[in-house]
Amino acid sequence: MNKFILPKHSAMLQADYIFGVATSSFQIEGARHTRCESIWDRFCRVDGAIKDKSNGDKACEHIARWQQDVELIHSLGVDAYRLSISWPRVINDDGTVNLTGLGFYQTLVDELVAKELKVFVTLYHWDLPQALEDKGGWLNRETALAFAKYSEVVCKALGDKVYAYTTLNEPFCSAHLGYEVGIHAPGMCSQSAGRQAAHHLLLAHGLAMQVLRTHCPTSRHGIVLNFANADAASDSPSDVNAAKIADDYCNHWYIKPILEGCYPDLLAQLPKEVQPDIQAEDLEIISAPIDYLGVNYYTRNVYQSDGNGWYEQVAPTSSHLTTMGWEVVPDSFYALLVDLHQQYQLPALYITENGAAFEDCINNDEIADVARLEYFQSHLLAVNQAMEQGVDIRGYFAWSLMDNFEWAEGYTQRFGIVHVDYNTQKRTLKASAKAYQAMLKMRQEGR
Ligand code: FCB
Repeated sequence: MNKFILPKHSAMLQADYIFGVATSSFQIEGARHTRCESIWDRFCRVDGAIKDKSNGDKACEHIARWQQDVELIHSLGVDAYRLSISWPRVINDDGTVNLTGLGFYQTLVDELVAKELKVFVTLYHWDLPQALEDKGGWLNRETALAFAKYSEVVCKALGDKVYAYTTLNEPFCSAHLGYEVGIHAPGMCSQSAGRQAAHHLLLAHGLAMQVLRTHCPTSRHGIVLNFANADAASDSPSDVNAAKIADDYCNHWYIKPILEGCYPDLLAQLPKEVQPDIQAEDLEIISAPIDYLGVNYYTRNVYQSDGNGWYEQVAPTSSHLTTMGWEVVPDSFYALLVDLHQQYQLPALYITENGAAFEDCINNDEIADVARLEYFQSHLLAVNQAMEQGVDIRGYFAWSLMDNFEWAEGYTQRFGIVHVDYNTQKRTLKASAKAYQAMLKMRQEGR
């Protein structure tokens, strides 16, 4: 298989459907010496935190090679590019604006717009300034206010050249992985910290929405959440209940306050000392209307009871896994989208991330990434099927444009549709990139 096929009359082939590729600042930019320290710089120095002991100092050297990368994106024929802004590149530790850093994004956005690409800007994709972490990071309510201020600087500079602003990428990961289980920066391990961080992140989202609406009234504004279906390991009532708890704790904890202005009932069942401090007006701020919801989907999770009324995740038994150990289950993607549609009054959706890591072999400059091709094909069909069921999905972004720093996994996991040789920084289109390109070209010609 070397191409993507969508049903002839698929709504995904309509001219206004947006296909894109996505990246994030810390994962690709490099040029560490030209910005302030982020929590990920610090975390990378912790013994055992990053699988290959690497860091983001160089990454894909995107800061130096951005023009070539914009050409690359353009050559794919996509409609849009989803990027993130590095907060510590824009705001200095003393709170002043780094005009060179901000200027970088202004030039980048101008160039993307000149190439008629729609720009999706994420304001926070996990790289909190270390200076703010030193004052408590997301455990400190002030960080939410600082985020609103930083958002104002960015949106005033980029204005409505940006098609869509995203406040946060995956607050679940920032809060839960970063403060509750400690496998992401800043590496804290406390349940109450995880819950408090989650609340302050959501508050930051709400406050930034007000800023974005004021200064960029014609752009679209929303948030990106990650979802993984929570399936029970067995039919036993305890496992079914455990999966329900996991679903509330990991998925609904983030979407429900935004769309319905309240947390899942599970919150009230948590010990008092674990419950976050929520101030009177917070949920109203958090639940202000959003123009769209970004959905990131990679896999499902399976849960069983831990024997103490809580959940524990079990390893997938399927042999169909990516190198992340994530199960390939396109049917779950379809089910997730339809479930969300049935449970919530959803705004328009974008699939803001979807993709897979596999080992890639280069053979005479050719990379036949068949497993990734199949992953994309099956997941594109899942999106199409969900749309046929009435789910309003306006676009799809492949994660990622190119191989990059995969957080705790360092450079050991390749998610790119474009291969990066980290010694030479050479970019090479994999077969999946060529298939994406061919599908977009066909769509263009079919118009
Ligand atoms: C998501 C992140 C993204 C990337 C993918 C594989 O959770 O948003 O940066 O690491 O996973």
